[in-house]
Parts: sequence; structure tokens; C-alpha cells
Amino acid sequence: MNSKPSFSTQSLEPSKIPSHIAIIMDGNGRWAEKRLMNRIKGHEKGSATVRNIVRSCREIGIDHLTLYAFSTENWQRPKTEIAALMTLLKKFLKSEQKELADNNIRLKTIGQIERLPIDVQKELNRAMSTTKANDGMQLHLALSYGGRAEIVKMVKDIATKAKEGKIELEAITPELVSEHLYTGHLPDPDLLIRTGGDMRISNFLLWQIAYAEIYVTDTLWPDFSREEFVKILFAYQQRERRFGKI
Ligand code: FPP
Repeated sequence: MNSKPSFSTQSLEPSKIPSHIAIIMDGNGRWAEKRLMNRIKGHEKGSATVRNIVRSCREIGIDHLTLYAFSTENWQRPKTEIAALMTLLKKFLKSEQKELADNNIRLKTIGQIERLPIDVQKELNRAMSTTKANDGMQLHLALSYGGRAEIVKMVKDIATKAKEGKIELEAITPELVSEHLYTGHLPDPDLLIRTGGDMRISNFLLWQIAYAEIYVTDTLWPDFSREEFVKILFAYQQRERRFGKI
């Protein structure tokens, strides 16, 4: 983040920088398999891409970056792969401590954090508490996250309050629903990027992406570069967002 903005960054229109970008980081496994390596090597290389893209976002002036790091479905992967991902996450939280502090980035999470191993939860809590006063950018890690599970939780929370007489039925509005999701008062993502070429949403931020611009690139996450990221931002800025109007 101490590096100077590149020429391509300067070609972006400052008034049209998205406030919130969400990314489905796909393709780590294929990246490794193509090189006859263990899939875990792909996740390791993917961690370096995380670092690079977080830096780029901070430098460009993005307010919120949400990364799909581990889905509710990912618990069905082999135990060794899950363990390796948890170790990588812990490593990332430790090694990025200074980087987050120096660059005024606040770390937050969305998802079923209580399902993560205790040592990972501890490291997350430490990183969230040491960065909680930072107001330059928010980095949201989606961990054991699933959009449907999030919606079920929201319905239960609102139904409980309604049953207890704390909420009138008329008070149930889209805004109230949003407030009861993990993302709370965050602005909805303006841009959703998926690497790895698959044209699907994979249970990510189902409610929140209602009006997000979607960009899918064939590039596998470990190969995803700052240059391509800036190109996508440039393409986003050329799109006309109508929000259902004409
Ligand atoms: C999808 O690739 C990626 C994941 C399930 C995990 C994402 C994790 C990282 C980028 C590294 C660790 C995260 C942080 C925040 C440090 P895949 O394995 O499904 O790839 P494939 O579709 O090619 O098999």
C-alpha cells in the first residue's frame, strides 16, 4: 500500500469508485491441479492474491471489500483441505496484523463464526479488536458463510421479535430485513466479481446482490492480478446502472 498508484489506477473515474465490492475467489484447486500440485498449494498462492487485492482496494479507495473465503458447503471438503484452509487463515491474520494497522483497515467477519476452530476464532477476535478503530476501509471475511443460512437466521430473529411483540408486522420492510442480516447496515455490494469462470452465485450474499453489477473472469484466483482488477473496475464504470428504472 506504500507503492504509488499505477497509471491504470489513475484512469479510473473517482466519482464512480464502487463503495462495496464482493468477490467469489474461485479456482485455487484448478490452479494447483494444472501444475500437478496439491490443491493446498493453490490456496497458498490464493492467500497472496488476497493480500494483493486488499492492498489495491485500499489504495483505490474502496470502502468495503467482502471476500468469500469459506462457505457453509466447504465443510464437506476433505478434512485435510479444511484444516489447511484454517491454518492459512490463521497465518494470514497473524502476518497481516501490521499491514491492516498501518493502512487503517478494519477487519470484520460474516458467517457462522462459532463453527470455526477455537484457535481461529481467537485469532479473528484479536484481529477484529485491534483494528476496530480503523476507518480507512472495512475488510469483511465471509467464513462458514451461506446466503440461505443467513436468510433463515434473519427470518428466525425477526419472527422471534414479532412473537415477543417487539416488532409490528407493518415494520417489516426491506430495510429491516437488511439490518437483520450479517451485513447489517453495510451498503449492498455495487460489484460482484467471480474468478474461475463459473457463471453462478454459489449461495453468496443472495439478498444483498439484488442490484450488484456482476463480472465473471476465467482467470483463476491465484493468477488474478491488480491489473485485471483495475480493468474490471474500469469496465464497471462504463456500465449504466438503472436499478430497474429506465
Ligand atoms: C475456491 O477455490 C476457494 C476457496 C474455497 C477458499 C478461498 C481461500 C483462499 C483464497 C485462501 C485463504 C483465505 C484467506 C482470507 C487468507 P476452489 O478450491 O473451489 O477451486 P476450484 O474450483 O478450482 O477447485
